[in-house]
Amino acid sequence: MTIPKETIWPLDPHSKAKHEILRRYLEAWFPILSTHHTRVVYIDGFSGPGRYKNGEAGSPLIALDVALNHRKTIAGEVIFWFIEEREDRLEQLRKELAARTIPSHFRVIADSGRFHEKFSAVLNSIDEGNGALAPTFAFIDPFGFSGIPLSLIERLMKVRRCEVLVTFMVDAINRFLEHPDDKVQQHIVEAFGGDEAVRIAKGEGDRVEALRGLYQAKLAKVARYVRYFEMRDHENRVQYYLFFATNNETGHLKMKEAMWRVDPDGEFRFSDATNPDQRAMFASDADATPLLVGQLNKQFLGKGTVTGGDVRAFVENQTAYLKKHMTGALKQLEQSATIHVQALKSDGKKRRANTFPDEVKLAWV
Ligand SMILES: C[S@@+](CC[C@H](N)C(=O)[O-])C[C@H]1O[C@@H](n2cnc3c(N)ncnc32)[C@H](O)[C@@H]1O
Repeated sequence: MTIPKETIWPLDPHSKAKHEILRRYLEAWFPILSTHHTRVVYIDGFSGPGRYKNGEAGSPLIALDVALNHRKTIAGEVIFWFIEEREDRLEQLRKELAARTIPSHFRVIADSGRFHEKFSAVLNSIDEGNGALAPTFAFIDPFGFSGIPLSLIERLMKVRRCEVLVTFMVDAINRFLEHPDDKVQQHIVEAFGGDEAVRIAKGEGDRVEALRGLYQAKLAKVARYVRYFEMRDHENRVQYYLFFATNNETGHLKMKEAMWRVDPDGEFRFSDATNPDQRAMFASDADATPLLVGQLNKQFLGKGTVTGGDVRAFVENQTAYLKKHMTGALKQLEQSATIHVQALKSDGKKRRANTFPDEVKLAWV
């Protein structure tokens, strides 16, 4: 990927997919969070100019418009903190923001500078006892891999109800892995919070896969739930992974729903090489049943009687699938007599055929 030099640049199909995931997730995040908290924070650490060459909205406007136009009223205070290091892009963003009518309970800050410097200053100040961080969603969307130290993400994830969506530029990292410049190496070490990535360069096997796995493992140390979405360019080459990390069960579920909408095949993958205009980006789900059936068999065979709630918790928290997929898979397992479902639920009521509520009892036979 060539890094654009102009103030605004054309939107790639994979960036469009990234925006769709962001927009769909925020549609869920804003109302849920602002119902329970008086203040929430949306950080766009690499905000860009807010607009693309053909007029499409950039991430700052997407986030702002989700909150402004939501059918549910966002009652609490919402702080939008956009950070951009290039003055020309920031100026463009400020123009875009000035064209919006901002309600008094929204605070929109378009800040000049570097994300890691700005954000670590805020975290340092909080560590010194100056206030607390409200529930925060941080979108970290660089062109490359400098200025995204893992240590900063780790600090953010320690705060309750904070989560991160980060563009992990695996192709660039892979290409620069053996670069002789110490500064480049330093950026890679910082991004991974250690030098394991540099050692991957000397190993065998698929480096992109190894780098992805390493980053995932690092995030999993600070977040209960980690999901990623693969983005490929027009040559079908992996450009980056969009990683989401959260400690919140509902957040995890909502992000999975957003990712399923963008890739109904459930592979959580988008490629510019598949004609983006013809691709059924928001079509119905492909049949996820066989894969989930396999996972359920592996998880529950030999475990005795379990409840529908046990199966749902596994599906929602530990797989890429959603409850609707669970229903399809359990239906198939019941039809093939692989599971036996009790007629009465644990609350003593009769179970309706083909439903698998939390109270239903079932066993693999
Ligand atoms: C991939 S673009 C952002 C696109 C934007 N998030 C969107 O989806 O519309 C990355 C932006 O980050 C800016 N940038 C680069 N390094 C930065 C840093 N250390 N801190 C903040 N902004 C930076 C670049 O000038 C560029 O505008």
